[in-house]
Amino acid sequence: MAERQRIIIDTDPGQDDAVAILLALACDELEVLGLTAVAGNVPLRLTEKNARIIAELAGRPDLPVYAGCEKPLKRELVTAEEVHGKTGLDGPELWEPSMQLQPEHAVDFIIETISACPEKSVVICPIGPLTNIATAFERNPEVAGRVQEVVLMGGAYFQVGNVTPAAEFNIFVDPEAAEIVFRSGVPITVLPLDVTHKVLTTPKRLQAFRDLNSDVGRIVAELTGFYERFDLKKYGMGGAPLHDPCAIAYLVCPELFSGKRINVEIETMSELTRGMTVADWWGVTSRKPNAMFIGDADVDGVYRLITEKLAHY
Ligand code: BDR
Ligand code: CA
Repeated sequence: MAERQRIIIDTDPGQDDAVAILLALACDELEVLGLTAVAGNVPLRLTEKNARIIAELAGRPDLPVYAGCEKPLKRELVTAEEVHGKTGLDGPELWEPSMQLQPEHAVDFIIETISACPEKSVVICPIGPLTNIATAFERNPEVAGRVQEVVLMGGAYFQVGNVTPAAEFNIFVDPEAAEIVFRSGVPITVLPLDVTHKVLTTPKRLQAFRDLNSDVGRIVAELTGFYERFDLKKYGMGGAPLHDPCAIAYLVCPELFSGKRINVEIETMSELTRGMTVADWWGVTSRKPNAMFIGDADVDGVYRLITEKLAHY
């Protein structure tokens, strides 16, 4: 078997984060080195707890889970309980996790792991605000040079924004952190709303999760079913976008996705357009490409992949 891709998942669970984590832990192609929690959808004390619940649901109480930054670099925390519910994982009945949180700070874990692993052998997969990653890069600039790639969910060009008319949630919450990451020189792949708004749940796709006849299948259907209500009302879409699992699906099956290498800058100055990803999709500036920006996906293929992998539980 080919060597497994080492990854660190930086996350703010979140129903779609939960599905992303379950998907990653079901993929033989990936070696998840740890989960690092960040404040985002809900405060840190809940995101780190939710990460532990999901690790237990995956049958992986051995997986190290770390708590990271409690608030963005320069801003007050903005959360999204209106989407994810009070707990961040509203929908199914869940439990108090019994596995322990690691004593180390998430940022220290990221720095130590990237420094200890062979150069360019670890992908960081952020599916929440970029506070932990930017803090690691700022604290130890050598770390950025050793990262293989950052594959993140965040931003938008054609879809513009979901939390404000101009910005996507993960980038909006901590635009200064996003700016540090996008200017770090690390190879970046971005799964923006442009693609995740196509990866919609449908009654048939939710039924396929239920038909797995496992706790994971049932809970994934309940989580995504809960979170759907918000997007159905907001966009009048046919279902809810499974944003964060797209980042994991891209890692395992990049051929399901297409995009362009372009320049992406982050708006940090204007309050009106705070956190906008200024994506030069049409190549109208001479700014150097710094990211692979995904625009499209084989949506049936992505759902097939998720369902097939979740069947391993
Ligand atoms: C992103 O924001 C969060 O609400 C989701 O978990 C996802 O990471 C989508 O904008
Ligand atoms: Ca998330």
